[in-house]
Amino acid sequence: MKLSLRTESVPASATIAVTTKAAQLKAQGVDVVGFGAGQPDFDTPEHIRNAAKQALDDGWTRYTPTPGLPQMRQAVVDHCARYFDLDIEQSHVITSCGGKHSLYNGIMCLANPGDEVLLPSPYWVTYPVQIEMAGAKPVLVAGAPENGFRVTAEQLEAACTDKTKGLIINSPSNPTGAGYRREELEAIADLAERRDLWVISDEMYARLTYGDYKSTWFATLPGMFERTYTVYGVSKTYAMTGWRVGIGIGPKALVATMSRLQGQMTTNPAAMAQAGAIAALTQPEDFLAGWLTAFDARRQRMVEMLNAIDGVACNMPEGAFYAFPDLRGLLGRRLGGTVMQTDWDLINYLLEEAHVALVPGTPFGAPGFARLSYATSMEQIEKGVGRMADAFGRLT
Ligand SMILES: Cc1ncc(COP(=O)(O)O)c(C=O)c1O
Repeated sequence: MKLSLRTESVPASATIAVTTKAAQLKAQGVDVVGFGAGQPDFDTPEHIRNAAKQALDDGWTRYTPTPGLPQMRQAVVDHCARYFDLDIEQSHVITSCGGKHSLYNGIMCLANPGDEVLLPSPYWVTYPVQIEMAGAKPVLVAGAPENGFRVTAEQLEAACTDKTKGLIINSPSNPTGAGYRREELEAIADLAERRDLWVISDEMYARLTYGDYKSTWFATLPGMFERTYTVYGVSKTYAMTGWRVGIGIGPKALVATMSRLQGQMTTNPAAMAQAGAIAALTQPEDFLAGWLTAFDARRQRMVEMLNAIDGVACNMPEGAFYAFPDLRGLLGRRLGGTVMQTDWDLINYLLEEAHVALVPGTPFGAPGFARLSYATSMEQIEKGVGRMADAFGRLT
């Protein structure tokens, strides 16, 4: 059977590849410390699970309207007013089968073949792939640890050509945990206005922030709502990655077009999953403060331990649940006759010799870096980063 040319350039997810390799070792009885996970280690809270169970018993087992039940869209409207200072209506909201699907809908409805889309790097692995699936071209704009991994409006402007149609921002970021300041976003908004660009703002981690950092939704900046598509969801904040409910918010014409597309692809996200998401978005969130305190303590411990390793330097993330250390100081070191030439060499060495699973930076557009998720227990963090220190210490 001959497969389509279209699929040839779609790579497998590097995050999934590392997690699978770690799972294989675990299945052989090896005690692997996994820092690959892109999901909270907490369970979905009970009131959310109960809402879905109740929905099944109440007969929520049929198709719903494609963009989601009216109650679901209203829950998003109310949630946005309560937490993000965004005043919208149901017709600005579409729910999809996970945030990744929300993103795909947006890119498919905004990017034309041949368009250039500005993409700050390091980036979440899925962005360039989806841009290319739409036939458009990702144009990378490099962030660096020295500027907190945040690109400036000037850098973005320097990358603009007459083919540039849009840009993607993700704050707080997967993989770096970096969070843009309001003034920085305002400068980017000014650029979007002058160059007439659409903006996809991925706010998936907006509620998971630490210390003094608070995220600003790009769509709330003056004049930006009509040119912004916001990707949001319940997966990370409410530990609901398996439920597959994503949220897209944007101008009415965009939402109507995405609904048309989605109506030919997946129809609605599962009805009982919508019931869980409604409970997540509307019920009290007493559990969240405890989760944030735990993530915050783990973040600090992980970064402190990483920075104590010779050859490793790590910025303090401000949101999400990832640390993104710079391992370039270790490149060129050797174990016997083997030279560590790339982040993949270091990551394979750690997995095979120290039984610690990290995701290399290269698939995020940052060779020489690595991503560690701190959505795991403090005990695992201390054990895993301790093993990293020993293993890197053996390199000469
Ligand atoms: C930045 C970012 N956006 C969107 C998503 C998609 O989330 P989901 O499809 O699990 O709802 C993820 C998941 O890893 C993410 O890290």
